[in-house]
Amino acid sequence: MNPDKLRKLEQMGLGPVWQRRGLPDTPAQDSLIDAPALADDAAGGPGHDPVLADDISGMDWETLEATIRQCTRCRLCEDRHHAVPGTGDRNARWLFVGEGPGRNEDLQGEPFVGPAGKLLDNMMRALDLARGEQTYIANVVKCRPVGADGRDRPPSADEVSACLPYLKRQIDLIRPQVIVALGKTAAGSLLGLPGDVSLGSLRGQPRSFAGIPLAITYHPAYLLRKPTDKARAWRDLCAARSAIDGH
Ligand code: URA
Repeated sequence: MNPDKLRKLEQMGLGPVWQRRGLPDTPAQDSLIDAPALADDAAGGPGHDPVLADDISGMDWETLEATIRQCTRCRLCEDRHHAVPGTGDRNARWLFVGEGPGRNEDLQGEPFVGPAGKLLDNMMRALDLARGEQTYIANVVKCRPVGADGRDRPPSADEVSACLPYLKRQIDLIRPQVIVALGKTAAGSLLGLPGDVSLGSLRGQPRSFAGIPLAITYHPAYLLRKPTDKARAWRDLCAARSAIDGH
């Protein structure tokens, strides 16, 4: 990384953790653990409209985004200001998947615009990537999960299963070379695992989703709280890069 970039990262308190160092061992691609196929049905229950997962699976980009913006498949639609379909290059090589919009994202209709988004931008920069250039950013759920106390909360299993067909369609349309799951909601949802699975048990193994290498790392919001895990996250990102360019 050039000294200019390095200085910027250090100024932002990220320090040398994100310097490009030697790459960790490349996971063997032939030993990828593929995620089980996800159930294609909607979650059912109150508030679900007739937009079925089968319909979603054939949508083009414009229809998909318009459908997400008007979606009523789960009760998250009731409190939203904006649904947040995702942003970036529709032919991206890298797909970053977060959990769901927070307060800032709900207000602006864009993913990762708050402090965690700044860190995600820096993580991409350390990989010589930028938002919108070879990258697409999406979330598991497209509307903000908000708790009774007015704070952000993780999505429930029902909310995840109602929304997941949208992410699946985005993955189908983009066909990225690697998917980076940011945090346990993204990882567990893509792997079809229960919500109480620990991120530590998921990281560090070669995995895939629909034949696409799936890298699992920490959510940027967690890294803001626990910066000492940035070195581990950097190893995860290097493994993701290896899956693309065979370093
Ligand atoms: N956290 C997420 O998981 N996604 C966002 O878009 C913002 C914060």
